[in-house]
Amino acid sequence: MNTAKNNIFLIGLMGAGKTTLGRRLAAQLGRTFYDSDQTICERTGVSVPTIFEMEGEEGFRVREAAVIDEITARSGIVLATGGGAVLREENRLRLRARGTVVYLHAAPEILLERTRSDRNRPLLQVADPLDKLRSLYQTRDPIYRAAADFVVEAGKSDCRKTLARILQCLQ
Ligand code: S3P
Repeated sequence: MNTAKNNIFLIGLMGAGKTTLGRRLAAQLGRTFYDSDQTICERTGVSVPTIFEMEGEEGFRVREAAVIDEITARSGIVLATGGGAVLREENRLRLRARGTVVYLHAAPEILLERTRSDRNRPLLQVADPLDKLRSLYQTRDPIYRAAADFVVEAGKSDCRKTLARILQCLQ
């Protein structure tokens, strides 16, 4: 583990379980948990879809980069990043330099099941969300892999098993 800052950063697509697993991981390790989307929403007082609507995806990405810079500068934390955080090089560099990066990997079909009834993800409010998830997967999977210290399978198995896999990597 990168012990310089003792931080753990979770990356991966929407529905991979970054928030759920991150919260549990933080509780288990006695660390403070952050979620970049949640921090952005707390600060702006509006939801992610509203930010996309008012400022576009680019406006959201600017806010996301600022929040990631601020949160990753802390130590002893677990951070669940938004699925698109790795698209910006500045975020990738900060994550790599300031903690251990874990990519939670799951296939698009599983991600669809987990995000199906969620209206809070503007990128998936399209006619064919599976097609969208497949295309995001194709573009981003190599980026997540290159950005990560560890790749953890977060597909079919339950939360407990995935958490155990993450903890094993961090030993
Ligand atoms: C996004 C993922 C979302 C949120 C925004 C954009 C993406 O976060 O940041 O809707 O580009 O993949 P989650 O991965 O937590 O759903």
